[in-house]
Amino acid sequence: MQLYFSPTSPYARKVRITAQELGLADKIELIGIALTPIKPHDALRASNPLGKIPALVTDDGKALYDSPVICEYLDALAGGHRIFPPVGPARWTALRRQALADGILDSAVSVRYEQTLRPQELRWQEWVEGQWLKVRTALDALEREPPEDVVNIGTISIACALGYLDFRYASDDWRANRPRLTAWAGAIQARPSLQATVPTG
Ligand code: BEZ
Repeated sequence: MQLYFSPTSPYARKVRITAQELGLADKIELIGIALTPIKPHDALRASNPLGKIPALVTDDGKALYDSPVICEYLDALAGGHRIFPPVGPARWTALRRQALADGILDSAVSVRYEQTLRPQELRWQEWVEGQWLKVRTALDALEREPPEDVVNIGTISIACALGYLDFRYASDDWRANRPRLTAWAGAIQARPSLQATVPTG
C-alpha cells in the first residue's frame, strides 16, 4: 500500500498513528508530498480527485480517502474492531469524538490557510474569530467530558487535533484552564505511535 501524506498534515497523522497502533506501518510506503489548496499535486489528484491528503492506494490499486475511511480500512485489515469499536455505545462515542476532533482541525486548518495563503487585503477577521469560537467551544466540551483512557479512532483523532494546535498555534495555549484535557493529552502523547509522528517542518 502507498500513502500520500505530508509530515505536517494532522489528517495524515491520524492514519499513520492508526497504522502503527495496528502493527501495519511496515506494509505502507509513505509518499511525502508538498501541496496547498492553491498548489495542487497531479499524481495525488489521479488517486484522489479532491486532491487532498491523506490518500491510500491499496495493494489492488484502489484509492481510499479521506482519513476516517482509510483508518477503518486499516482496522478491517488488522482483523476489525481494534480501533473502531463494534456497533454499540462505545462506537458512537468514538465516532462522535472523531467528528469533534476533525471539526477542530477543519477550523484550525482553514484559519491557517486564511492567515498564510490569502492575500492580506482579502483576509476576513470576523470569519477567523468564528472559526476560533468553534475550536474553543469544542475544547471546552472535551474538558467537561475528557476522552477515555483507550486508544481508538476517537482518542487518536483528538490527540491529532491537540497536536496540531501545539504545532501551528503554540502561542494560543489551549491547556490554559483545561487541566483534565491537559492531563489526558500528556498521557496519550507519550505513546510511541504519537512520538514517531510529531509534526515537523
Ligand atoms: C499544515 O501544514 O498545517 C497542513 C498540511 C496539510 C493539511 C493540513 C494542514
